[in-house]
Amino acid sequence: MDTQKVTVSDIREAKGKRKLTMLTAYDYPLASLIDKAGIDMILVGDSLANVVLGLQSTTQVGMTEMLHHARAVTRAVKHALVIGDMPYGSYQALPDGRQVMPAESVKNAKRFIDEANCDVVKLEWFDKCLDVTKEIINSGIPVMGHIGLTPQTADKLGGFKVQGKDAQAAQRLIKQAEDLEKLGCFAIVLECVPDKIAEIITQKLSIPTIGIGAGVACDGQVLVSYDMLGLFERFTPKFVKKYINLSEQIFSAVKAYKSEVEKGEFPAKEHTFSIKQEEVDKVKK
Ligand code: KIV
Repeated sequence: MDTQKVTVSDIREAKGKRKLTMLTAYDYPLASLIDKAGIDMILVGDSLANVVLGLQSTTQVGMTEMLHHARAVTRAVKHALVIGDMPYGSYQALPDGRQVMPAESVKNAKRFIDEANCDVVKLEWFDKCLDVTKEIINSGIPVMGHIGLTPQTADKLGGFKVQGKDAQAAQRLIKQAEDLEKLGCFAIVLECVPDKIAEIITQKLSIPTIGIGAGVACDGQVLVSYDMLGLFERFTPKFVKKYINLSEQIFSAVKAYKSEVEKGEFPAKEHTFSIKQEEVDKVKK
């Protein structure tokens, strides 16, 4: 395993030279495996809400849950760049109209670095995200942008749909990507964007684009680990490839354990501690 830590400069410099890899992780064992496999970036995603915590929406997790899981991930990681996903309400307007001020956003971003040892943070696009992104970058924390389908504000985008499907909407995405690059983002996630538009954005930017449902022309790819491992069964988006079906394998293992315990086949001799018979006899006397 390459234990040299991946840096923001490594990610920037990879553009045009090699494809970047990124996966989500939420706990120590999975982060450790992903890291040992040599993945470039590990995102402690707010998809935590859906795939680990059984919640309906990513808007249902906050700083407490995100920092708790981010700490577990960074304890495991020696190589990958670890990205803390800023949760809903930590940097953007809330449904009650309350605007999280840039200063409060910077404080929350710093918590990912200082309290959870993350290397950088990721922010989803929203109306006033440029002010917040600028403040966080100016405070010295590198930011990964995220445009296209932004789940935290999916209700404002007409639901969980592909974005940028007509020329006007595509132009808006291109402008968002350019604005984020100008502010100093080191990379941008493109989620659910038609492949040709993702290709145009990738060609226009000098920073890497990381696609999820955005085609093969992006500079790198990200998937939710629980999706690609077959551990999340509630729904599978079109862009997911399941590399293994761990749900099936775990289910079979649990059924086998149940059956062996019920039949008295487990534990076997090799799983059992023994004692000399003479000691047992003394106890019995
Ligand atoms: O939270 C997450 O898993 C994400 C990825 C889909 C990029 O933001």
